[in-house]
Amino acid sequence: MAPVEIRKDLFWVGTADFGCRNFHGYSLAPRGTSYNAYLLRDEKTVLFDTVQAHAAPALLRHLEEIVPAEKVDYIVVNHLEQDHAGALDEMVRRCRPEKIFCSAPGAKSMAGYFDTRDWPVQTVKTGDSISTGRRHVSFVETRMLHWPDSMFSYIPEEKTLISNDAFGQNIASSFLYADQAERSDLSAAVEEYFYNIVLPFSSQVLKTLDLAAELKLDIELLAPDHGLIFRTPEDVAFILAKYRELALQKPRKKALIFYDTMWQSTGQQALAIADGLSEADVPYRIMFLKNHHHSEVMTALASCGAVIAGSPTHNNGLLPLVVAMLTYMKGLRPQNRLGGAFGSYGWSGEAPGQIADILGSMKMEQPAPPLKCLYKPKKEDLEAARALGRSIGRELAARCAV
Ligand SMILES: Cc1cc2nc3c(=O)[nH]c(=O)nc-3n(C[C@H](O)[C@H](O)[C@H](O)COP(=O)(O)O)c2cc1C
Ligand SMILES: [Fe+2]
Ligand SMILES: [Fe+2]
Repeated sequence: MAPVEIRKDLFWVGTADFGCRNFHGYSLAPRGTSYNAYLLRDEKTVLFDTVQAHAAPALLRHLEEIVPAEKVDYIVVNHLEQDHAGALDEMVRRCRPEKIFCSAPGAKSMAGYFDTRDWPVQTVKTGDSISTGRRHVSFVETRMLHWPDSMFSYIPEEKTLISNDAFGQNIASSFLYADQAERSDLSAAVEEYFYNIVLPFSSQVLKTLDLAAELKLDIELLAPDHGLIFRTPEDVAFILAKYRELALQKPRKKALIFYDTMWQSTGQQALAIADGLSEADVPYRIMFLKNHHHSEVMTALASCGAVIAGSPTHNNGLLPLVVAMLTYMKGLRPQNRLGGAFGSYGWSGEAPGQIADILGSMKMEQPAPPLKCLYKPKKEDLEAARALGRSIGRELAARCAV
């Protein structure tokens, strides 16, 4: 996509990565992604963020459609992760900026990636503001949303917030604005991004939303560094409300069952648990881990208030995909969920108890004890599985009613 003037003298100069499917090496990006960088042309010309190293030539091409690179006076680095700062050294070489602005933790991360000894780095903190001539840029530190160095840049005269990773979505597209997308698709992409990246920092999200309200940031244009830009009052309100809702993690009346199996016994238990959930009038999603990447499962959790995990006992432990899934989920620190554990076994049967321990370490309350069945589930095993689904379902339904 060619550069787009998104506000008077403010240009999108980023790049869309249509081929990206593996985001940051751990998460799927089925819609691709984009690295949004922005250029403000004022008495001082400011570049906000860069792109992944491999996309540096495209960024430079876009930027030079507006101004020659050496005309860039300031570079603002809102975040040092390499999808936004990978091309920083190239841009510093080309632009020779008078100043590079970042947070104090940003200066540390920057020195961790680049030899910054000759760079004109100036650290800024929340409330600091610089003049670009006819406009200002003020900074809001958003520590741990999602790195220590993360910050927002706000241009009051343009009522524009450049929010870096926050409010982003992994979408590569021929259009730039949220109002041009199908709302359901956009919403799914926001959930996918939040649940795989932002979730552990839910409390920072709530603090940041409160801080934005306290600072009375009047936002007409909300421009994240991935995906689509929010430019209508409805869309700005939508994304702010969506982030508050996602960060609050109130229980949702739906259950997620995931499992792995060698010979289908654990799979049969999963189906019986699902029947029990139906009896309690709780919808569910069943995910067989050989068919679903861990990031897909995590995205599904966005609409689920309960997690019911199953593994047969394998060499006194769990099957590896279940370990991977639980490890990934635990790191993302979901809150306010009910849990449940199940699995088939042959002689020692440790797996369901191990799952229950991991769910317990995530502070998930478990309305029913871990359930195991010897080899192939018999009628009473299936009834027990159904009862487990029913009791988790009833407890979840009761919590969602309040
Ligand atoms: C390689 C292998 C290792 C196993 N290790 C254990 C074990 O340590 N303890 C146990 O109780 N059962 C063990 N089992 C038995 C399985 O848990 C049992 O066959 C179970 O019914 C499989 O459930 P599934 O049909 O869901 O795969 C093992 C099975 C296999 C094939
Ligand atoms: Fe990031
Ligand atoms: Fe990013």
